[in-house]
Amino acid sequence: MNRSGEIIAGLDVGTTKICLLVAERTGEEDIRVIGAAIRPSEGLRKGEVVNVARTVEAIKNTLSQVENTCEIKLGSVYAGVTGAHVESYNSRAILPISNPSAGVSRKDIAAAVEAASRFSLPSDREILHVLPQEFAVDDRTGIVEPEGIKGSRLEANVHLVTGRTPAINDILNCVQQAGLDVEETVLQQLASSLAVMREEEQESGAVLIDIGGGTTDYAFFRNSMVRHTRVISVGGDHVTNDIRIGMRVLVRQAEELKKKYASALAERVGDEETLTLPSPLVPSSGGRSRKTLCRIVELRLMELFGLIRGDLEKAGLLQNIGSGLVLTGGGALLRDIRELAERETGLPVRIGLPRGICGLREAIDSPVYSTAVGLVKYGCKWGMNQSTLTDRSGGVIGGFRRWLERYF
Ligand SMILES: Nc1ncnc2c1ncn2[C@@H]1O[C@H](COP(=O)(O)OP(=O)(O)OP(=O)(O)O)[C@@H](O)[C@H]1O
Ligand SMILES: [Mg+2]
Repeated sequence: MNRSGEIIAGLDVGTTKICLLVAERTGEEDIRVIGAAIRPSEGLRKGEVVNVARTVEAIKNTLSQVENTCEIKLGSVYAGVTGAHVESYNSRAILPISNPSAGVSRKDIAAAVEAASRFSLPSDREILHVLPQEFAVDDRTGIVEPEGIKGSRLEANVHLVTGRTPAINDILNCVQQAGLDVEETVLQQLASSLAVMREEEQESGAVLIDIGGGTTDYAFFRNSMVRHTRVISVGGDHVTNDIRIGMRVLVRQAEELKKKYASALAERVGDEETLTLPSPLVPSSGGRSRKTLCRIVELRLMELFGLIRGDLEKAGLLQNIGSGLVLTGGGALLRDIRELAERETGLPVRIGLPRGICGLREAIDSPVYSTAVGLVKYGCKWGMNQSTLTDRSGGVIGGFRRWLERYF
């Protein structure tokens, strides 16, 4: 098939599913999904690769499905990264302005951002993202675009996202073994935020929370800048596992019970309500009470939102969340989770679905696809049409250079 637009692909290598999304961009804002494939993922645990062969196989399957249906040959993808190894910091640096009478130059800005990114990292870690925040010139703070402002000192504030190099390389190797290059690796919640958040939320203060199978990833935005990112190794699969133990069923049955009967608010379920085990193959000696099931789920989610709230409070951010929380990822599909999150955090909450992309709407109209849609949007917004895999030098320069190439 003849395609006139640029092809951009996002690959979400998740703990429960691998999702490949291919889009065609024909104009600035005209992004159309032309192919989507999803396969169960069995080679990851908590966002990290534990079985290369299975992961490669699943990626290959999504690739051949998309290539056959779209009649294209895909060369590269934007790939998501998560896992407990991801750590983030806010950092800053102050440098003299090279020519105070001419004002801040772009070279000054680059030098200050680079200095702020020069973080001493252990040899097995690298920078994934350098996300500039605001600048200050002398005593004037909160400057978004400092170019041309006169003064003697320039301060740059940045949010740095780092990851463990072997864990990142595992994802890259799997994608490569499946026959694809990686354009860029993107922190999953940053990708998801591009898919589901509104500009005014990022402006007035909001947290994007992507509840996946193995991890819950979140990012706090204010004044349209990333202030805080975090990965917690608790996701929907922990809820399933609690159900397995508490209801004495198999994992498969627990997963079905969760989707069919669970509510995050046990109080909404009557004491007398019972449930039917989905598969009679393995007789369960466990309970049949729907309320018991919901209590198990509620407890785990209370723990999860308690962890998030505590972390935001510790970072001094709770009072800056003007718009509230946006929940996405498969875990956001759990019945009554929005209300539970509101109760546990005291903040307004909404469920975020992927937006700003057309074509195959029915295939991507679920929070499960937020990361993949966000990866495509990231590629459209920041894509450089070159493989960063071959020129990834790692460390500070890798992350910084990507910022630099975009900025200039
Ligand atoms: N209808 C539903 N009700 C409740 N939970 C659901 C529903 N649908 C999916 N889930 C849960 O969502 C989780 C998977 O979400 P998602 O596809 O976003 O994860 P992932 O991207 O594969 O994992 P991760 O991001 O942690 O690597 C699973 O725990 C699954 O049980
Ligand atoms: Mg995910």
